[in-house]
Amino acid sequence: MSNYHIKHLEEYFQVYRKSVRDPEGFWEEIAEEHFVWRKKWDNVLSWDFEKPEVKWFDGAKLNITENCLDRHIPTRGNKTAIIFEPNDPKEETQHITYRELHQQVSRMANVLKEQGVGKGDRVCIYLPMIPELAIALLACARIGAIHSVVFAGFSSNALSTRINDCDCKLVITSDGSYRGGKTLDLKAIVDAAMDDCPGVSKVLVVKRTGGSVNMKEGRDLWLQPLLDNAYADCNAEIMDAEDPLFILYTSGSTGKPKGMVHSCGGYMVYTAYTFKNIFQYRENDVYWCTADIGWITGHSYIVYGPLANGATTVMFEGVPSYPDYSRFWEVVDKHKVNQFYTAPTAIRALAKEGLEHVEKHDLSSLKILGTVGEPINEEAWHWYNNNIGKGKSPIVDTWWQTETGGVMISPIPYVTPTTPTYATLPFIGIQPTLMDEKGEEIKGNQVSGRLCIKFPWPSMARTIWGDHKRYRETYFSAYDNKYFTGDGALRDAVGYYRITGRVDDVIIVSGHNLGTAPIEDAINEHPAVAESAIVGFPHDVKGNALYGFVILKDIGESRDRDNLRKEINQQITEQIGPIAKLDKIQFVSGLPKTRSGKIMRRILRKIAGKDTDNLGDISTLLNPEVVTEIMDNAIP
Ligand code: WTA
Repeated sequence: MSNYHIKHLEEYFQVYRKSVRDPEGFWEEIAEEHFVWRKKWDNVLSWDFEKPEVKWFDGAKLNITENCLDRHIPTRGNKTAIIFEPNDPKEETQHITYRELHQQVSRMANVLKEQGVGKGDRVCIYLPMIPELAIALLACARIGAIHSVVFAGFSSNALSTRINDCDCKLVITSDGSYRGGKTLDLKAIVDAAMDDCPGVSKVLVVKRTGGSVNMKEGRDLWLQPLLDNAYADCNAEIMDAEDPLFILYTSGSTGKPKGMVHSCGGYMVYTAYTFKNIFQYRENDVYWCTADIGWITGHSYIVYGPLANGATTVMFEGVPSYPDYSRFWEVVDKHKVNQFYTAPTAIRALAKEGLEHVEKHDLSSLKILGTVGEPINEEAWHWYNNNIGKGKSPIVDTWWQTETGGVMISPIPYVTPTTPTYATLPFIGIQPTLMDEKGEEIKGNQVSGRLCIKFPWPSMARTIWGDHKRYRETYFSAYDNKYFTGDGALRDAVGYYRITGRVDDVIIVSGHNLGTAPIEDAINEHPAVAESAIVGFPHDVKGNALYGFVILKDIGESRDRDNLRKEINQQITEQIGPIAKLDKIQFVSGLPKTRSGKIMRRILRKIAGKDTDNLGDISTLLNPEVVTEIMDNAIP
């Protein structure tokens, strides 16, 4: 019998040792006992980090939706799979059972087939957090189409870039979306994107807000009538374990976004196994992850991980502040949520609002709290622990990435003793290590370095869509034979890991990864801008906010500075989306550069973070005099 559900610390260490000593034997047992396969694998694992190439369960045949849906029907057909909690609390909650979800997924799968989508085709999903979003993912998986979800807060430009990068032939969207008190015109954003997407032949539109939309003849179709006419039964396409399941884009420090490709078999096994253990899910629990399915957290821990375990998963359409700051706690109380998983930025925002919002509600159902997306600061950790968990619910600080597919370093609640701000110990099968600047592995404890992973795990991304070379360069070239995460970390006296943040030019704002390059590109497109550099600075709610240093062209010199600031942010909103707007914009005459012309972001980061006591040696700069000017005029 495999240790599918770990119950105490000794068992964790025992299973961990087994998973490292004999990874193939370990994962084979988990895969064999807890999933349905149409055919077993020929080989559990083959790998080569030089190429890089990783294959798990090669030769096996399966469909992930049979694991997430069909197999539950006999025993859990009437169990709620998804609780849909709408943006407006006055609108009725929906409970979708496993049987209903199976039918709805089958209907949508049949609609996709009718529209000419087949195995291996890419489908772009640009939807708000409504049930159709989860159903669309599963419908693609059902027929072997590769889904590429784009967060419905991205601009038309960001959307078209992602659609074209992987040649999507069909887009699923909605007329609009609700976000708190606002309505967003999603279809208009898609329409604008379509001007640049000649490869898209069909756009399927969910009616959500009822706003008036433009439907282009021959291209756009309302989804509901098609669903009404579709069969509620659809054979699952039999996939190879290594076939792609989905693409999800994440920002890189340079260049265009990277389409991380996840596979069917390994991703399923790892997300399901981590879900079971990290949330200690029991049969009648109600689990809620507040992330958007537009991000990896939603893919792995709202949809695939929970459903593969037959869990009840909450999908929340709204925002924590609407109709007021008690909404999260109202929803926890209403659905008697047992596991609650959110982001540090949300915790900080709610902590600012006072306890009356929390105290109105009964939170006694909560057993486990989770955080993800960025380092959690000590203060937020204690607020969460004291006021939400009442000191009784362990906090799982889960470290992982879009690239890793599932949680990599995390406590197992009620098993691993927690320490504030520490993600603690590697999950089963994960072999982290810290590297120094010279490329040597750092042994021992009470050390810090760059976080790498030494051995493959089932849910690691297999490539970057269309650019395997970039995959190798980004993740496997910094250190020999290791996956480099891009994060720095420390390991304390007992071997617990604490993630200290990115060591590259990715900035995490409110838990969202933003690369500096695409934002600078957007700013530089403004006709009055000559050059720009952005850095992050500490922000008490967002974790980091963005500070832009901008050099104007001559034509910009006479312009009103505040208007320019607005226009620059408008430019960013159009190119990327409002999440990438700058909090501070300083106009400068030059940027500190090395003699080879590279911007010294380290110096800008210190100025933006008001940490200018020790700027280091600036005498080697091409233009040291500019540093004083920038410091003197820094925005408080
Ligand atoms: C950061 C989100 C500290 C980290 C699942 C990582 C964290 C990046 C944590 C990936 C955590 C995520 N503590 N930092 N618990 N979780 N991060 O791809 O820098 O959106 O590399 O995946 O978020 O962000 P992504």
